[in-house]
Amino acid sequence: MKRAIYPGSFDPVTYGHLDIIHRAASIFDELTVSVLNNKEKCPLFSVEERVKMLEEATKDLANVKVESFSGLLIDYAKRKQIRVSVRGLRAITDFEYELQIAQTNKLLSSGQLDTIFLTTSLEYAYLSSSSVKEIASFRGDISKCVPPFVARLVYEKYGYV
Ligand code: PNS
Repeated sequence: MKRAIYPGSFDPVTYGHLDIIHRAASIFDELTVSVLNNKEKCPLFSVEERVKMLEEATKDLANVKVESFSGLLIDYAKRKQIRVSVRGLRAITDFEYELQIAQTNKLLSSGQLDTIFLTTSLEYAYLSSSSVKEIASFRGDISKCVPPFVARLVYEKYGYV
């Protein structure tokens, strides 16, 4: 069985993430979307909220499950006996950062964790969770960036609902 992890912050999940999830789920037998529980970052949504959002957004995909993890990705992947991490590449600006993570993970795992990149579909190439939050914080329109139920939750955080 071909299994992969799609790790990320997903704060919040965007149509760009969902594009990668749908495509990775059609390539692998099982995809685990894994929310990083990073105590140093100051996320808008708690890990539990992000997991719930992802579960709702992927409920129609039978081979997708959602979890959270703390610590190093390679340790989490080893515990789950998964050898592939999926990441989306939007524009060339992502490349250096992603290459660094991928190479570090490969080195630290002694070659046990490989990274596969999917190029984000063009319409989502400039979407990011950070810009969604910035737009929403000024009451801007995020309907083209995230599903309606996510938009409602984001606006709620900024006190607009
Ligand atoms: O959505 P993001 O914030 O770009 O995702 C980054 C993520 C979660 C993939 C990366 O920060 C990560 O894997 N963090 C876990 C800690 C780790 O393994 N660090 C070593 C890789 S440099």
